[in-house]
Amino acid sequence: MTTLTEYLQSLQAQHAQVPSIEPITDVIDTIATVGKQITQLLRKGALADILGEAGAENVQGEQQKKLDVIANNLLLEALTANRHCSGVASEELDHATAGHQDGSLLVLFDPLDGSSNIDINMPTGTIFSLLPHPRLGEKIEDGDFLQKGSEQLAAGYLLYASSVILTFTLAPDLAQQVGIDDGVLMFSLDPDSGEFLLINKHIAIDTDTQEYAINGSNYRHWLPPMQQYIDELLAGKTGPRGKDFNTRWVAAMVGDVHRILCRGGIFIYPKDTKDPTKAGKLRLMYEANPMSLLIERAGGASTNALERIMDIEPNDIHQRVAVVLGSKNEVAHVQQRHQQ
Ligand code: F6P
Ligand code: MN
Repeated sequence: MTTLTEYLQSLQAQHAQVPSIEPITDVIDTIATVGKQITQLLRKGALADILGEAGAENVQGEQQKKLDVIANNLLLEALTANRHCSGVASEELDHATAGHQDGSLLVLFDPLDGSSNIDINMPTGTIFSLLPHPRLGEKIEDGDFLQKGSEQLAAGYLLYASSVILTFTLAPDLAQQVGIDDGVLMFSLDPDSGEFLLINKHIAIDTDTQEYAINGSNYRHWLPPMQQYIDELLAGKTGPRGKDFNTRWVAAMVGDVHRILCRGGIFIYPKDTKDPTKAGKLRLMYEANPMSLLIERAGGASTNALERIMDIEPNDIHQRVAVVLGSKNEVAHVQQRHQQ
């Protein structure tokens, strides 16, 4: 089986034609290495005293878990030491942190997605997005990170579940330049060798689905088009959709997106009226954008219910966005309903 190292080397071999590929492979390698360290901690769980609250709040006003802080520090340390990384932005950091001034890449990450799952031994993940440093050679500022999702060079996640999976993709134009376009790739961590081994590539999401993921407890806060859409799914065979739907909710976006990449589906975290100042719960730059690149590269679609997520012009590293992603026809259905 192909190891992650071998695969990244095959990309790197094209660096004469596409010099930007070497930094990207090197940074993915660094993230994979930290993923193994986080895996070790999660495996030990309570035995490593990593469960529970850290006793502080992040910039979003959310209680940080101990492992949020630990995972953030591991990624921060490893990435700022990588000579290709000019700076990082994280869910757990108020502002961007500078890395190597000569680095060509900006790295955004959600160090531990689905952190409410940590203490109950359920799936969690790490999400990452790679952007070009727009002012090469200059010390980074927060504003450098405010690029649309369509500018991403690569994106991916680590899923810490019954097995540990690394999924990533290169931007389509970059993959074409490199001459190796395997679409979305999945590697599984082999506990015996400690290597990530390639298990799937060219992942393709079915265009239709009968499976949806949404936190239904927020129903009363949703806008009418979302309530009507879910009403129709619940009506099943006897309703206007003429088929039964099934619900799945992992409570970690990484887990729900992974399921959709494996067997299709739709994942929704809609805008709601709970807090009118927020456009949604999820964060555009290090959750929605990287997942949107993966989903689109696998033939799915990703919108905020009105427009393509990767076309949204960002104005804040931590800005929130409504998310509707997954099987193309189902996402189109939700979008049409909202446009009407
Ligand atoms: O990062 C935010 C997040 O943990 C997502 O991973 C997940 O989809 C969502 O929040 C879970 O939200 P809720 O608490 O509404 O189930
Ligand atoms: Mn998250």
